[in-house]
Amino acid sequence: MPDPGATAIIEVRALTKIYRVGVETIHALRGLDLSIARNEMVAIMGSSGSGKSTLMNMLGCLDRPTSGAYHLNGRDVSRMNARELAHVRNEEIGFVFQSFELLPRQTALENVELPLVYARGGWRGRRQRALAALDRVGLSKRVDHRPNQLSGGQRQRVAIARAILNNPSILLADEPTGNLDSQTTVEILALFRQLHAEGQTVVIVTHEDEVAAHCQRVVRLRDGRVLSDLPIEQDTAGRHLATVRAAAANADVAPSAPAPSGGVAC
Ligand SMILES: Nc1ncnc2c1ncn2[C@@H]1O[C@H](COP(=O)(O)OP(=O)(O)OP(=O)(O)O)[C@@H](O)[C@H]1O
Ligand SMILES: [Mg+2]
Repeated sequence: MPDPGATAIIEVRALTKIYRVGVETIHALRGLDLSIARNEMVAIMGSSGSGKSTLMNMLGCLDRPTSGAYHLNGRDVSRMNARELAHVRNEEIGFVFQSFELLPRQTALENVELPLVYARGGWRGRRQRALAALDRVGLSKRVDHRPNQLSGGQRQRVAIARAILNNPSILLADEPTGNLDSQTTVEILALFRQLHAEGQTVVIVTHEDEVAAHCQRVVRLRDGRVLSDLPIEQDTAGRHLATVRAAAANADVAPSAPAPSGGVAC
């Protein structure tokens, strides 16, 4: 029988994370199993406090689980020390956050170059790679702008350029559109989809059905466990999208009906 995990880039088994704050013990992850194959585009959903960011921090090697196994690209990262984790994080992971996390006094180009400060290849090579990443996200005309001279969507593009600079194995995004309006959200999702089409593995945490509907698969968490793990067509987010589309199509054929507002691009 073929091993279903053979092509998995992320393989998580019985993952737990316990936080201790004073006398309180918080079970943020309670035995979570998850496999993600190369070049999947997956949404992670679930109510506030269900463990989504905790899981992303583990997947992104920003923190270590309390117990359980995590294989990234076939390597057991759950037992690595802090130095090894930092190395894996630099080589394999691209992170995008809701709040962009850009340095305010640095230009777009300087922000994107940042992960390469300690890399080999010299100043010229670093600059070329950063410019190429900014070009990939459609920002080659804004390289000298500082974050406050960019729109929210453009700031997130800079953050995405920085995240893809090292050609990471996985691109992790924790509510990347949480601070963006609906039109900009659609543009940023189009960019994630483009990167996915180019071969990137993408994992996006979101509270919004419209965002999840751009992914192939939806993993829902509850109380630190996987509640459901379904292809988009079978998840409520995908069914929601189908309903919105059907309503829009009906409105198109009924001339007297009002035009649908704020359509869902996919
Ligand atoms: N560093 C920490 N120290 C202590 N407790 C934490 C820490 N980080 C998260 N928690 C707790 O772990 C649980 C899961 O938190 P987490 O941030 O993963 O939730 P989430 O699903 O991302 O929620 P949201 O949708 O609000 O971002 C919560 O009860 C939270 O209070
Ligand atoms: Mg969170």
